[in-house]
Amino acid sequence: MNHRRTKKATVYDFQPTTETMRDDVLSGLARDPKILPSQYLYDERGARLFERICETEEYYPTRTEIAILRQNMDAIVNRIGPRALVVEPGSGSGLKTQLLLDSLKDPAGYVPIDVAKQQLTDFAEQMDRRFPDLNVLPVCADFTNAYELPSCGSEVRKRVAYFPGSTIGNFTPEIAVEMLRHMGELCGEDGGVLIGVDLKKDPRIIEPAYDDAAGVSREFALNYLVRLNRELDADFILEQFGYEAPYNEACDRIEMALVSQCRQVAHIEGVSVTFDTNECIRTEYSYKYSPAEFAALAAQAGLTLIDVWTDPDRLFSVQYLVPQ
Ligand code: TRP
Repeated sequence: MNHRRTKKATVYDFQPTTETMRDDVLSGLARDPKILPSQYLYDERGARLFERICETEEYYPTRTEIAILRQNMDAIVNRIGPRALVVEPGSGSGLKTQLLLDSLKDPAGYVPIDVAKQQLTDFAEQMDRRFPDLNVLPVCADFTNAYELPSCGSEVRKRVAYFPGSTIGNFTPEIAVEMLRHMGELCGEDGGVLIGVDLKKDPRIIEPAYDDAAGVSREFALNYLVRLNRELDADFILEQFGYEAPYNEACDRIEMALVSQCRQVAHIEGVSVTFDTNECIRTEYSYKYSPAEFAALAAQAGLTLIDVWTDPDRLFSVQYLVPQ
């Protein structure tokens, strides 16, 4: 493990290696249907493109979640209480985090966890400047794998796992239960999980959010292949891949995929992979839940739902869960 000095914060580094990425990508492409594991969408350019998706007109979750947080911040802050250590798996660029930390009473520390190391470092420095008294302890890791939490060094009354952005929806329900269980362990008996969950609604609202007119979502998915070409010496011809993100009503999920436009062969570190015309390579899911369905999922992970905050149109929800 490497320690790296930023202005103040040390990055605890568990970043996946190129070999791990190679193995994950090749085993995903050996499956039928083929998949590209979604954590590798977030290289530096991917992380920036993702920020731009969140700003598109069609992408309702970010602005709705921010509005819910603003609207209910007093209740959230009272629920969490003083001297909390906030742990955020997949922190990204964190406007929502600033909102929360701005309002919390005397927070003890903040642990952002992200795979995009440069973005994480920049963000940690920014949080350091903005909250000079806060212990900012960044961890560079794929949060679905093992990593260790740094110790905080000051009094912590409660640990809170903060998981906004409906990232939980990017896992299948089975894995989502595991992730929730993991968060329950992170926060411990006296802690809680503050989580953003996108809600079921008319697919005509959902679909454009994952395939915006300006093509940022498409660019984000195609960037996966750009990354493989650069980092794994692959030879994908970008012009020969399309993008789609239909809503599967039977499974309550968006299915994001790259689509091969012709029969073709690509090489990844010397390994040949054949793609048929119209063959889909799934990059990500985004599951949608009703509040009752999500409460049932949380219960399977040993968590009880105690608050649900939503917007007037019930597009999105912010929920607070505690270990049973
Ligand atoms: N978790 C969010 C969602 O499912 C954000 C997200 C992840 C996303 N991957 C994406 C949004 C790809 C658009 C495209 O909505």
